Amino acid sequence: SKRRIQIALDGPAGSGKSTVARRVAKALGCDYIDTGAMYRAIALKFIETGLFQKLDAAASSLTPALEAEIDHLLDTSQLELFTEKVILDGRDVSEAIRTQEVTRRVSQVAAMSPVRRHLVKMQRGQAQGRSVVMDGRDIGTVVLPETPYKFFLTASLEERARRRFLEFEAKGFEADFETILKDIEHRDKVDSSREDSPLVMAADAVRIDTTGKTIDQVVTAICEAVEALKMSAVKTDSVDK
Ligand code: CDP
Ligand code: CDP
Repeated sequence: SKRRIQIALDGPAGSGKSTVARRVAKALGCDYIDTGAMYRAIALKFIETGLFQKLDAAASSLTPALEAEIDHLLDTSQLELFTEKVILDGRDVSEAIRTQEVTRRVSQVAAMSPVRRHLVKMQRGQAQGRSVVMDGRDIGTVVLPETPYKFFLTASLEERARRRFLEFEAKGFEADFETILKDIEHRDKVDSSREDSPLVMAADAVRIDTTGKTIDQVVTAICEAVEALKMSAVKTDSVDK
């Protein structure tokens, strides 16, 4: 019988998660779920509804009134995720969620517990009963803690910044390497130090340093590790019986 495979891929910005996740999903016949896109869409919503002005006025502390407003925004937001696009309240925001403004704000939004509660619930619902590759920051630790298929991608800060710089250049955007590096460094720090579901490697995850590795090499390493883990799961099953 064909078993359901759920793969958790976590790591810092620019470690190659989304590129590698798409490829692994295709190779193994799984759906790809980009959880970062969900946090970005909510950040966009917060920007567009002026929530940040109110947050800044409250010195970023979540008063009960603000918390209620955030819950209301989340409950009334319609977020749809497809492999190639993100739809927010009926609008295609696939491009809008990648702007520098959203990138600068997203970690602040992702640190808010009401936001995480809401999105983690959605993500578990999406994964339910399906074969998926999910990438993010807390997939192995919080969203899919039961899956045996967990990977944590890393790369040096310089390499991650260089990758993002090259991406901007390829798109014909103007980009400054130092600014990109500082932004990534800041986001990693906020993501790793927040109280709710910080970016940490799950104890049972396979760590892959992608510095100096090609995308192909990383994809192959993950597919092989999944195969090996599958075999050991089968062996454990037969021992159990
Ligand atoms: O692709 P990139 O590394 O730039 O970021 P992303 O995966 O699109 O995620 C954007 C931000 O969302 C991260 O910096 C985190 O603050 C947040 N995030 C999170 O907290 N938990 C996740 N599972 C996914 C993203
Ligand atoms: O999702 P995350 O922020 O972790 O990374 P990404 O959006 O997949 O961006 C990684 C960038 O580095 C992409 O432009 C890839 O083509 C490139 N890259 C990679 O992902 N993995 C390597 N081993 C080498 C380059």
